[in-house]
Parts: sequence; structure tokens; C-alpha cells
Amino acid sequence: EQQYQESLYLINQFARDFYQEQLFETDRGKSVGLSYFKRRGFREEVIRKFGLGYAPAGTDKFTLTAVQKGYEAESLKKLGLTSQYGRDFFRDRVMFAIHNLSGKVIGFGGRILAQDPKAPKYINTPETDIYNKSKVLYGAFFAKKAIRKADECILVEGYTDVVSLHQAGVENVVASSGTSLTVGQIGLIKRYTENVKILYDGDKAGLKAAMRGLGLVLEQGLNVKIVVLPDGEDPDSYVQQLGAEAFRTYIDQQAKDFIMFQAGLLQEEAAGDPVRKSKLIREIVASISKIPDPIKRALYVRECARVMEVSEELLVGEANKAVTSRM
Ligand code: UTP
Ligand code: MN
Ligand code: MN
Ligand code: MN
Ligand code: MN
Repeated sequence: EQQYQESLYLINQFARDFYQEQLFETDRGKSVGLSYFKRRGFREEVIRKFGLGYAPAGTDKFTLTAVQKGYEAESLKKLGLTSQYGRDFFRDRVMFAIHNLSGKVIGFGGRILAQDPKAPKYINTPETDIYNKSKVLYGAFFAKKAIRKADECILVEGYTDVVSLHQAGVENVVASSGTSLTVGQIGLIKRYTENVKILYDGDKAGLKAAMRGLGLVLEQGLNVKIVVLPDGEDPDSYVQQLGAEAFRTYIDQQAKDFIMFQAGLLQEEAAGDPVRKSKLIREIVASISKIPDPIKRALYVRECARVMEVSEELLVGEANKAVTSRM
């Protein structure tokens, strides 16, 4: 079993090296892949560190090379590197290697080079014997030391957000890779810190995704802050625009405690509308009642009552109801 897994890691490592060599050593890789990364502001050092690469177009060069080197076609298929028809799974895409906590390559994400409404922007390794998406956070291997040191984990949506922030010196950052957080992923974070700062894309989808993930994060006892980015920006685009210094200042200044952020948001939305306001109060209470620590819960009740301009007793009553109904 162990040996079998090791053999799969070795193949993925071969694949990463292959994609990287294509990126740096072939004409097409350089003119298409490397120039793409450079255009996006990624420097060579970070490209190498994260094992970025280029998967060639058309000719199934990866599969042919791997088989020639003695890797079994069956294993390549099992790892999602080769399709069931023997074709390269990743073709003409820039590649992001996905590492586990000990730095082994467990999968890949491949980004299309030019926008194409008929093809997905990213394709990713499917579930395999060594890649369970719901238990992986992209970048965790490169972030773990910095997360411990900062006692905080910055959570972003995408591969490029992680790479860009790293390059800017913000290293305590991992990506959920576009899906809602799972208990497994939260467990990963909890190994290193209890504090999470969510930096999702500054669009409706990003805010929705942040809100959706939140219940679970609170339930697991993590402290959550949120940073809202300007409309249309994501951490990658914004740090490339502002530069490292100004970006770091921005997130320090904009970070808000999540529950208080929610309370403020609701207060604005429901101003002067009692029906709407009572509904929103229940939503806040639902969030607060997810917090396992009763002391933290009580402090939030007090703060929210103030921000939302309702009596503390009312919120306490509602929160207790919500907690009891969960028991
Ligand atoms: P985004 O659409 O925000 O992409 O998706 P991005 O990370 O900003 O990438 P660029 O800047 O356009 O290159 C966030 C994450 O969701 C996953 C990827 O992990 C992506 O990084 N995703 C997105 C997919 O898996 N497939 C897709 O088609 C799109
Ligand atoms: Mn702590
Ligand atoms: Mn997005
Ligand atoms: Mn982006
Ligand atoms: Mn994005």
C-alpha cells in the first residue's frame, strides 16, 4: 500500500519535472507558457518554487515520454495524467502542481492560455488514490511555516492568488481552489492556527462563497476575519496592481471580524425595514450560535446588539433558542 502510493508520487514528480522542462526548455513552452506567466508578473524564482509548467499541445508527448521511460500506462491513467484513450489529459495548458503537506506532488491544475467560452478555464486532476480534493488546500506545503509564525492562515480562492501573494512576501496563504471549504480542509488549517483571514474575489460569487463556507468554519471554532476586495479584483490582480507594501497595508486595514462584518452589512441592508431586519437578526444569531465557545458567543451577542441597535436580551434569547434546538 505504502509502496504503491510512493510509486504514484514518483510518477507525479516525473510529470511535474516534464511540464517544467517543457516550460523552460522548449520553444513552444517558452513562447507560449513562460511568456504567459511572465506577462502575469510571475518571476522565475516563484515559478520554479511552485513547480509551474507547461503541458504541450496535440501530440500526447507526455504520455509517450512517460511510457518510454518505463512508467505503466495503467498508472498514468490512474493518476489522471492520461485519458482512458491514452491521450494526454492536460494539453496546451500552463500547469500548477498540487503538493501535499510533505511536499509530494499529488495532482495538477491546468489553465487554458486564451479565454475560450467552449472550454473550462481550469481543468484539475480528478479524485485518485493519492488526491482527495476535499482534504487538500493548495499551497499548504509552502505556507505551513508562515501560518504558524503569523498564527494566521489567509484563505484565497485560486492558484494564482497563492503564487502572487507568495511572491509579494505574504506566505501564510492557501487556496480552497474554488470550492466551498470542507471539514477536512478546516482540519488542515487547525493543525497550524485558529485564525483565518478570508480574502475571496471581489465579486458576487466570491462573497457568496465566503459566506457559504463560514458556518462550517465558525462551528469548528476558528476565528474568522474577512477582507473585501474592490469589485472585479482578486488577491492576485490586486497585489500585482498595488505592489507588496500597499497590498499588505490594505489587508491589515480592511480586515474585519466576520460576525461584525455580517452585522454591519445587515444593518445597512435592513435599515428602516422591520420585517427584513428581524429576518436578518435571525441569520446573525444563527452564525453566533455556531460558535462553540460560550464566552465568545456572549461577547458577540453584546457587540452585535450594539451594532444592530437591538436589545442584548433579545439576541441572548434568540441565540439560546438556536443553541438549544441544536442539542
Ligand atoms: P477564478 O475564476 O477566480 O480563477 O477561480 P483565478 O484563480 O482567479 O485564475 P485566473 O487569474 O483567471 O488565472 C478560482 C479557482 O477556482 C478553480 C481554480 O482552482 C481557480 O484557481 N477553478 C476555476 C476551477 O477549478 N475550474 C474553473 O474552470 C475555474
Ligand atoms: Mn492561537
Ligand atoms: Mn472568482
Ligand atoms: Mn485571478
Ligand atoms: Mn480569481
